[in-house]
Amino acid sequence: MKTASFLLSLESLLWPLDAADSGASDAIKNVLKLLICDINGKRPGVMIPIPQYPLYSATLAEFNIQQVGYYLNESTNWGLDISELKRAIEEARKTCYPRAIVVINPGNPTGQVLSRENIEAIIKFAHKEKLFIFADEVYQHNIYAPGSKFFSFKKVLVEMGEPYSKMELASFMSCSKGYMGECGLRGGYAEVLNMEPQVKAMYLKAISAMLCPTVLGQACLDIIMNPPRKGEPSYELFQKEKNGVLESLKLRAKMVADTFNSMEGFSCNEVQGAMYAFPQIKLPSKAIEAAKKAGKAPDVFYAFELLENTGICIVPGSGFGQVPGTYHFRTTILPQPDKLKAMLDNFARFHKQFLSKYS
Ligand SMILES: Cc1ncc(COP(=O)(O)O)c(C=O)c1O
Ligand SMILES: *[C@@H]1O[C@H](CO)[C@@H](O)[C@H](O)[C@H]1NC(C)=O
Repeated sequence: MKTASFLLSLESLLWPLDAADSGASDAIKNVLKLLICDINGKRPGVMIPIPQYPLYSATLAEFNIQQVGYYLNESTNWGLDISELKRAIEEARKTCYPRAIVVINPGNPTGQVLSRENIEAIIKFAHKEKLFIFADEVYQHNIYAPGSKFFSFKKVLVEMGEPYSKMELASFMSCSKGYMGECGLRGGYAEVLNMEPQVKAMYLKAISAMLCPTVLGQACLDIIMNPPRKGEPSYELFQKEKNGVLESLKLRAKMVADTFNSMEGFSCNEVQGAMYAFPQIKLPSKAIEAAKKAGKAPDVFYAFELLENTGICIVPGSGFGQVPGTYHFRTTILPQPDKLKAMLDNFARFHKQFLSKYS
């Protein structure tokens, strides 16, 4: 796979992974690449959630793979309805050959955590439709909501037994997110299950051509895969710091959603996991007209107004996809609590002024 020394260290740690990369992004792109192949005169298609993390839409466009969007259901906390998957795939079959489904759990930008029942239903759907599953699980440690629990696709699929346990699946993890959150340290991996052997041989050959990820990234990933264990000198301190970070993020997740829900025209789903809130805003028609005049999408217009008046930077929902006619934005829950509180106060003040200006 990589350099000989890296291979050795992989074996010695008994990592379950198949390929380490410079970030989950590279790992995802390397597996997506395997799908670039017309079938029966049709180009391949890949199902992705809408809203989605833009790596997917951008990579599919780059690889000339058709994006098959399925909407997440905002009214059920960004739940994933199987009926919507069916609608999307039937529609797509007219113009492409759907080959894979991407599931982001916990969600970015939507912050939902899938239930085990939901994952089972998705696996059954993928089996029926013969889809390769991409399980983007980079936020697996970041679970906040009472009652939410992370289940990996691999675990559920294996426990469901045959025929599901024989399905092709790739799961992705990163060292740049989660409680470690070192965005500049690029390291990620793909764990690949049941891949057709000839395809897997090509996959390993293709990634071997890039030699290896940076040593720093490898070292960082190594630490995350192999944390201090009970009885080891750093164990207590490590647990304390890790739990401290996650507990604080949990408070911030609630603080962000509660504040947005107290603002006029906002509705924000519970941030069950990951690092983001993705509230919906109802914009006054005068603001929508002003946006048109300025040549901007309404949510982009709002984001610029916010930035110019407060210095707060949000990402408009149109960057992730949203049901037409609805407006959202994404913000993170990452600033330290005092800074976050100051930011939210500022945001609320701005929003009041915006409403009075445009209503
Ligand atoms: C859902 C999701 N997948 C993948 C990635 C990319 O991970 P990495 O930074 O390891 O390339 C991100 C980064 O934000 C993400 O949010
Ligand atoms: C979302 O879920 C609700 C409740 O299950 C359902 O009534 C509604 O039709 C769903 N919306 C979409 C767009 O599928």
